[in-house]
Amino acid sequence: MRPSVYISRSIAREAVGIIAASCDYRIWNNDQPVPAKILEEEIKKSDGVLTTLSDQVNVAFITGAPNLKIISNMAAGFDNIDIGAATAKGVMVTNTPGILTNTTADLAFALFLAASRRLVEAENFLRSGQWQAWEPLLLTGRDIYGATLGIIGLGQIGSAVARRAKGFDMNIIYCNRKRNHQTEAELGATYASLSELLSTSDIVSIHCPLTAETRGLISYGELALMKPAAVLVNTARGGIVDEGALYEALLHRRIFAAGLDVFSQEPLPLAHPLLKLPNVVLLPHIGSASIATRTKMAIMAASDLVSGLTGKIPLHLVNPEVVREYPTEKS
Ligand code: DGY
Repeated sequence: MRPSVYISRSIAREAVGIIAASCDYRIWNNDQPVPAKILEEEIKKSDGVLTTLSDQVNVAFITGAPNLKIISNMAAGFDNIDIGAATAKGVMVTNTPGILTNTTADLAFALFLAASRRLVEAENFLRSGQWQAWEPLLLTGRDIYGATLGIIGLGQIGSAVARRAKGFDMNIIYCNRKRNHQTEAELGATYASLSELLSTSDIVSIHCPLTAETRGLISYGELALMKPAAVLVNTARGGIVDEGALYEALLHRRIFAAGLDVFSQEPLPLAHPLLKLPNVVLLPHIGSASIATRTKMAIMAASDLVSGLTGKIPLHLVNPEVVREYPTEKS
């Protein structure tokens, strides 16, 4: 019998084709996320599910699905899935690491420039007819070149950002769970504590995953350590920054600006106070949103899903311990 699969969102046609070749599938053919209740019901009927980062797959969804073998998450992050519950039930979970590294690093850099050089404010100024003349002090911002960049989390994306920073003659400091000697040697990056990084950086860029340890990592105390001229950029996960504390810091100009692609609640509610501030650039979680990268992510997620349902070990398992007992062919 062909495995039964649920795809929780419209994804690249090539990826759907990979699933269709060996599975029966149902799809939420919509650009908006599938409602939680429908997702739960669909998972109950499925052997495998392809999810996105908007789908919260909690313990009840996993324990209530008698045939579920694999959850393939089309994202590098997997904080939307209860990994402990999946592992306890022997359900494989996969993600899409690596392929979105450079696209996300590009976007982090775009936010460095947009927030530091006030690009969105400047464009709004022009479009609203306020531009009367060239002025020496008009919309002056902060230089990127030669500035000190503090990277929180020097994994694949953090390292790709560091490589770009080198081309802008930036000094790179980083904090990480472990020292990354290779990147230190390659890019002259300096290892620092979080407080040292915050107090010396001109731009602080967040690239760590959202975990119990990093939730609320940047709050009032941490923002107070930052320089008044500093810029905070977050392209990782919204929950890492206390948005109330950030709002206060931006409102009272305790830091210069921020660039955010991720929020603790997505979509960001239109009534959110951050939307009232001129010194923050706000993007709708588009870090990996190039056509090529989103297509590759969908294909990777589909391929891992099919591997997991056809007796092979998926290449990008987040919880490899679930397959250790059943060594089969590597896909
Ligand atoms: C991810 O894959 O985790 C990114 O946030 C998607 O843009």
